[in-house]
Amino acid sequence: MKFLNVDTYQEMSRQAANLISAQVIMKPDSILGLATGSTPIGTYKQLIEWYKKGDIDFSKVISINLDEYVGLDANNINSYRYFMDKNLFDKINIVKENTFVPLGTAENLEEECKKYDENIKQLGGIDLQLLGIGLDGHIGFNEPSEVFTKNTHIVDLDKSTIEANSRFFGSIDSVPKKAITMGMASIMRAKKILLIANGKGKKEILNKALFGPITPQIPASILQLHPDITVIYSEE
Ligand code: GLP
Repeated sequence: MKFLNVDTYQEMSRQAANLISAQVIMKPDSILGLATGSTPIGTYKQLIEWYKKGDIDFSKVISINLDEYVGLDANNINSYRYFMDKNLFDKINIVKENTFVPLGTAENLEEECKKYDENIKQLGGIDLQLLGIGLDGHIGFNEPSEVFTKNTHIVDLDKSTIEANSRFFGSIDSVPKKAITMGMASIMRAKKILLIANGKGKKEILNKALFGPITPQIPASILQLHPDITVIYSEE
């Protein structure tokens, strides 16, 4: 594991964007696994800046997002599809049809989960997976549990996750209680993993996840077993 401790959020974002752009430059048709949340916003901003300068070309890139809230569609400002469109996809030259986010409004959610995994398989798996980490150690929306769930699945969000994410929704009651998330198998099969985290509040869970026992109670702890993971942390 490569662990970079940097001073500022901006530095974390720049370093993460560096690794993502290196991936795209080396393999223009990369399959990028992408994440939402406050943490990657700076990384996406940096990528947009370099794209505008002509330094990165996303025209052949395919993206696969980790998760989506059940019941929220692309027009809902709190959906992860909306987040990705506004914070990245609409500002770079990625082909929209090549951007995949689980469909939280699918009539048959079980079917959507199966389709999502099938798609990842057909694309040949993820080259670089960007991850944030939740305060309870979740990655994507893989919440603490008795087991590591392998495939894309529907989850009941933890109370702490609902509370943490209520800052975007205005009230706790408006936060969806369920989400659809990529499972651990697709994440762990990614050739490279890039985990970013910032803020004092994330320090304890990050330490537990990266240096404590590997347990499904701290879903991110499984990342210790990945052969090519870079973690970038800024206390800011
Ligand atoms: C959300 C997302 C995760 C993200 C995490 C941390 O619930 N599903 O993919 O990593 O929360 O979010 P933030 O970066 O806002 O702290």
